[in-house]
Amino acid sequence: MPVITCIDDLKQIYQRRVPRMFYDYAETGSWTEQTFRENTSDFDQIRLRQRVAVDMQGRSTATKMIGQDVSMPVALAPVGLTGMQHADGEIKAARAAEKFGVPFTLSTMSICSIEDVAANTTKPFWFQLYVMRDEEFVGNLIQRAKDAKCSAMVLTLDLQILGQRHKDLKNGLSAPPKLTPSTIANLMTKWSWGLEMMSTKRRFFGNIVGHAKGVKNAASLSDWTAEQFDPRLDWDKVKKLKEQWGGPLILKGILDAEDARMALDVGADAIVVSNHGGRQLDGALSSIRALSSIVDAVGDQIEVHLDSGIRSGQDVLKAMAMGAKGTYIGRAFVYGLGAMGQKGVTSALEVIHKELDTTMALCGRKHVEDLDRDILLIPKDFEGNWQ
Ligand code: GLV
Repeated sequence: MPVITCIDDLKQIYQRRVPRMFYDYAETGSWTEQTFRENTSDFDQIRLRQRVAVDMQGRSTATKMIGQDVSMPVALAPVGLTGMQHADGEIKAARAAEKFGVPFTLSTMSICSIEDVAANTTKPFWFQLYVMRDEEFVGNLIQRAKDAKCSAMVLTLDLQILGQRHKDLKNGLSAPPKLTPSTIANLMTKWSWGLEMMSTKRRFFGNIVGHAKGVKNAASLSDWTAEQFDPRLDWDKVKKLKEQWGGPLILKGILDAEDARMALDVGADAIVVSNHGGRQLDGALSSIRALSSIVDAVGDQIEVHLDSGIRSGQDVLKAMAMGAKGTYIGRAFVYGLGAMGQKGVTSALEVIHKELDTTMALCGRKHVEDLDRDILLIPKDFEGNWQ
């Protein structure tokens, strides 16, 4: 068993173990990948104030996200095709999350279905919804999430059409992978992934195949989104979906203060400041740079969360200190999952927890709820001089 001391250790094992097509899917942004890169490099620009001679005993990273107890403010983000990164991936990640005491969010575009994850876990998870043209199918998805006792719905607002990711097109991304000479050549070097994948029946988009009518090509994410995702999604529709769901609602993909105010008006419980991990609008601001203007606009009236760019506990601390009440990791847990299944996700959570706890202590704070801008050193023009 290798010694894992940071998220990058998991990433290196992940890269060796998982077929190129799925590694590339996770490790990509849209077009030039500027936003994808800046999501992480902007975190690096923020420095920390070292404080000393503060009693460090009795520290805690525990808090609440949308009123639910969490052992640290780090949820697992919805990630499409998670069950292609490791056999039964969504079930394994959900189990690691529930043992650790953090929320797991199941993507609409998951491999394991809502029912399958519910049957193989003991605590409620969150369900992420993509809105499709077929209203009956969307209604059924919402009902299925209710029946599975999901404790929040995360509605994604920034993907009515799919941002172009060059690698996915070049690789012919699909679930399961199509067997072309180049995928076969690559799969032959990934035998442990392949053996585990052959031993599970969960190899298709589990929430879709067998549930959606008239599906032409449910194996290809890009074909499916182009054919099925609803380009008409607007705030009225968001209101209707909120009523249909009737439970806690989190709106994901907010990057602008005006949209944050709209989210507040429709009565959402939380928003996620997110640019979809740099996978949608290339050239958009990084989430950490956009955070303050949104917290200033609505932070005292709605819970503001952040995703995109979190790869360490220090990143979590920075986002919390800038006003977020919770964060999400996507790639950071996928690296762990692809590297070692459930154990790898646990390992990713342990790494992040330790980094968060130690950094908090060395900044002279004992509780995540006490983190504020006073512990940060932020470059003067960080939030920009944009016109
Ligand atoms: C879907 O959520 C994607 O970003 O690929």
